[in-house]
Amino acid sequence: MTSRIVFAGLALVSLVAVSACNKSGGSSAPPVSPAAKAEAAEIFSSRCTVCHGAQGAGDGPGSAGLSPKPRNFQDKAWQGSVKDDYIANIIKNGGGAVGKSAAMPPNPDLAEKTEVVNALVAHVRSLAQ
Ligand code: HEC
Repeated sequence: MTSRIVFAGLALVSLVAVSACNKSGGSSAPPVSPAAKAEAAEIFSSRCTVCHGAQGAGDGPGSAGLSPKPRNFQDKAWQGSVKDDYIANIIKNGGGAVGKSAAMPPNPDLAEKTEVVNALVAHVRSLAQ
């Protein structure tokens, strides 16, 4: 009898552990098609790396004269401190729209391209180390 209760308890604990694991491990980011992912990668290297650097360290050639400088996207503490919506917003509307430096340019051509913006957000997230 006791062993049955212990077994049920163990099963419950492992169930809870599995679902907690899924929650933290699984990303809530919306799905992104391979085409949108490819477009976002192209946009990141053609538009963003000049300031943010290929690995997002904030060390692109265009960052030299900037103040404030673009931050290091590899910084996990920063990654954890911002929501996907915030990143999408600054990409679409620029730094000026969120109270940050206007040196971070808006990308009005992406305003309707939600999937590409989501893929860019995912790209920024992927740079965390
Ligand atoms: C001309 C230089 C420049 C370009 C090009 C540029 N950025 Fe930025 N970006 C900045 C600067 C400078 C900041 C920091 C603004 C601040 O801290 O006030 C910034 C901030 C950001 C932030 C917010 C970081 C934070 O501190 O909250 C994100 C996300 C971002 N940029 C993504 C992008 C993406 C994606 C692209 C390409 C589509 C891009 N940027 C293009 C200069 C640039």
